[in-house]
Amino acid sequence: MNKSYDVIIIGGGVNGCSIAYYLARGGKSVLLLEREKLAGKASSAAAGMLGAQVEVTEEGALFDIAKESRAMFPSLQYELKEHSGIDIELVQKGMLKLAMNEEEAQHLKSTIAFQQKLGERAEWLAQEQVAEREGQLSDALVGAMDIPMDGHVNPERLTLAFAKSAINLGAVVKEYVEVYSLLRDGGSVKGVETSSGKIYGGNVVVAAGAWSKRLLSECGVKIPAYPVKGECFSVITDRPLLTSTIFTESCYLVPKSGNRLVIGATMIPDTFSENVTIGGLFQLMEEAFIVLPALKSSTFERSWSGIRPQTGDGLPYLGKHPNYKNLVIATGHYRNGILLSPITGKLVTKMIHGDFMPEYMEAFKLDRFKEYARGE
Ligand code: FAD
Ligand code: GLY
Repeated sequence: MNKSYDVIIIGGGVNGCSIAYYLARGGKSVLLLEREKLAGKASSAAAGMLGAQVEVTEEGALFDIAKESRAMFPSLQYELKEHSGIDIELVQKGMLKLAMNEEEAQHLKSTIAFQQKLGERAEWLAQEQVAEREGQLSDALVGAMDIPMDGHVNPERLTLAFAKSAINLGAVVKEYVEVYSLLRDGGSVKGVETSSGKIYGGNVVVAAGAWSKRLLSECGVKIPAYPVKGECFSVITDRPLLTSTIFTESCYLVPKSGNRLVIGATMIPDTFSENVTIGGLFQLMEEAFIVLPALKSSTFERSWSGIRPQTGDGLPYLGKHPNYKNLVIATGHYRNGILLSPITGKLVTKMIHGDFMPEYMEAFKLDRFKEYARGE
């Protein structure tokens, strides 16, 4: 491995693989390094929701990129199919965000008002209207926010489709190669020290999800970032119980092909342990039964967990390192890394090409927390 690449990407999750795809498509020579297998961490644990309107409830830069990224999926599914042969299983049957009490109903109605003001499709449905749409839902709910544009994909397939497409466009992808440290040279980074030796590149991208902080702190930037474990389970039902994805304050139910429902997810901060706890599953099951009582006779399929990369203010880190101009960071996507993966790949590619960047990128700058970002 003594060849030099235009760009070395650290991390083979959905974001690293998307970045590899867009860079390879733009003509760069790319090496992606993953210390385990591709899509082995958060990117296969995800439910795959493209929840721009369901997950992001405030106006701002995150809402802007979430919508932009969601809009990329309809054409992306064909592009990736053409380059990789992989179907990312895009489903666009909308989401219902349920209000289980009056307080939640008021909150959802104000979210609907702000989203409508910004030109997004969102509507309030009373309990009877929800029951007409989704006959199996409990009548204990007050109403729901109807979001026709939020859909879902198969997150593991999306990650592998990005990776395979990148490879078919010339990128080199190495699994089971761990990056130990970054090779620094004055104000730039010249490569990485890995379990397979030193590798040199013109740019380095850190897309190592919840594990990015360690690599960065060694370069003098101590970003606020912490892991948040999420546990999920899936069941198989003998007939379809839902058409839309159902989202509440405490759980979500995502209808996948083959009468499978993915039900998630717990939120356990400050742990890298990927164990699935009985307590976590019990809590999710209780919450899901309240919403969809018919679930009780479904067949348990499997459970799993993943580690979300969270930041100090809930916004991802997308930008150049303040002290190393050829070191790019793309992490902190927290609950929305699948949704945000196409825009992440596109923006990092523009950054590396030296293109003009949209104004909203200011919000994602790495040194936005002045008290944490320190030069060396
Ligand atoms: P990861 O997928 O974690 O990938 C990082 C990779 O870097 C890993 O494969 C790791 O092995 C590798 N790595 C780390 N250190 C090194 C090193 N030193 N050298 C080499 N490789 C290294 N998002 C949505 O948009 N929709 C959802 O419905 C959704 N549901 C979720 C449900 C759950 C239960 C969880 C846990 C997350 C969910 N998310 C969802 C969030 C989403 O999964 C993450 O934001 C996203 O997967 C992060 O992707 P990533 O590529 O940044 O990180
Ligand atoms: N976006 C769903 C989750 O992170 O659990």
